[in-house]
Amino acid sequence: MDPFRAVSCALLLSAAASPATAMPLVDCLAPAATCTLRQWADQAGIEIGAAVEPAWIAEEPQYAATLAAEFGSLTPENRMKWPEIHPSPDAYDFGPADALVDFAQTNDMAVRGHTLVWGQMAGNGTPDYVRDAQSAQELRTLVAEHIGTVAGRYAGKVDSWDVVNEPLVVLGNELDPNPFFELLGPDYIAEAFALAKAADPDARLFLNEAFVELAGPRFDAFHDLVRELLAQGVPIDGVGLQGHLLFPIFLDPQELRTNLERIVDLGLEVEITELDIAVSFLPEAERDAYQRQAYFDVFTACLEVEGCNRITLWGFTDAHTWLDDFLGNPAVDPLLFDEDYRRKPAYYGVRDALRRSIVPEPGRLWLALAAAAFAARRLRWRPRGSRTEQLAV
Ligand code: G3I
Repeated sequence: MDPFRAVSCALLLSAAASPATAMPLVDCLAPAATCTLRQWADQAGIEIGAAVEPAWIAEEPQYAATLAAEFGSLTPENRMKWPEIHPSPDAYDFGPADALVDFAQTNDMAVRGHTLVWGQMAGNGTPDYVRDAQSAQELRTLVAEHIGTVAGRYAGKVDSWDVVNEPLVVLGNELDPNPFFELLGPDYIAEAFALAKAADPDARLFLNEAFVELAGPRFDAFHDLVRELLAQGVPIDGVGLQGHLLFPIFLDPQELRTNLERIVDLGLEVEITELDIAVSFLPEAERDAYQRQAYFDVFTACLEVEGCNRITLWGFTDAHTWLDDFLGNPAVDPLLFDEDYRRKPAYYGVRDALRRSIVPEPGRLWLALAAAAFAARRLRWRPRGSRTEQLAV
C-alpha cells in the first residue's frame, strides 16, 4: 500500500473511533467504493454544504435524501434571516429554522447560521421596523435583542454564523450606507460581532461578502476592512467569499486562490459560502464542460489553501435556485444536480477535485517519498543526545 493510502486509511480508522459520524466511513479510493461527495469531502478533510429550504425537505423525498447523502452541512437559505425569523418586534418564527436544525442533527450535518445582520436594501435582509428605527439607541436595542435571542437559541447547534452579511455596497468598494451604518457608523459591524460572541461564545463568527472572488480594488477594500476589524480586536474567526459566479468572467482560479490565501494570512479561516456557477450566458454546447471545469477549479483552489475548510453551494438541484428568479432565465442551471436529481457533469468536477486532493500526482508522490526518506536518514544518523537537546529547546 502506498504511503498516502496508508495515511488516509489510518485517518479513516481513527475517525471511525469517533461516535460523531453516522455516515459509513469508506475508503473512497478502494476499487469497489462508491462514495458520495460528502464522503469524498470527509476523506479530503473539508466539509461540503448546501443552502436549503425546509419546504422542499418536507415535500420532496428525493431532495431530503440527496441532501443528507451528499452534504455534510447545511445553511438555511432564508429561514434564519431577520425578516423571516423575527418579522415584527415582538414575534419570532423559529419553526422553519428549527426544522432545518432538526434535519441536520438527525443526519449528522453541521449548520451554518445565515445571517444576523444584513443591511443592504437590495438584499431584503432587514425588516421595515428595523429600517425605520429613529435613533442609534433604538436601533442598538433592536440589534442586541435580535442577536441575543437568535444566536442564543441556536448556541451549540450552529457551528458558525455569518454575523454580518455583505458590508460593502454592491457596486463599489466602500461600506454600504445601510440603516445600521447610517445610525451606528462603521462600528455597527464590531458591535454585531461582540453581541454574537456574547450570545454564543463557541460559534465561529464570519464576515460574509459577495463578488470578492477576483483580485482588484473590491477585494483589497474588503481585505482592509477585515484587517481593521482584527486590529480593533473584533472577535472575527473567519471570512466567507460567497462565490456567486454569474458570468464566466467572474472566475479566475489563480486570483481566487490568492484571495483565499490572503484571508488565511490574516490568521483567519476562510470558506466559500454561496457557490453557484451560472451557464446561461454560454452557448449551449459549451455549458456542461465549462461548468465541470469551473467547479473543479473552485474546489481545487480551496483544497490547496490550508485554512479553507468548507465550501457551501447555494442550493444543489437546478430545480430550486434563486437564480431562476434573479436572472429570469430557466437555463441558468448553476448547480450539481439537474431538476430530476440526476448528477450533472459539474458533480463530477467536484468529485474529481476532491479525489485529486487525496491522490497526489506522481511527481508530488515521489517528492514526498524522497522527503520522508531524507528525514528518516537524518533522524537515524543524528549523534546520540542531539534529538533530546533539540526537543528541549
Ligand atoms: O418569505 C416569503 C414567503 O412568505 C412568501 O410566501 C414568498 C412568496 O414569493 O416570498 C417569500 O420571501 C422570499 C424569500 O426569498 C423566500 O422564498 C423573498 O421574496 C425573496 O426575496 C427571497 O429571496 C432570497 C434573497 O436572498 C433575499 O433574502 C433568495 O431566496 C436567496 O437565495 C438570497 O440569498 C442571498 C444570500 O442570503 C446572501 N447573498 C446573496 C444571495 C443571493 O441573493
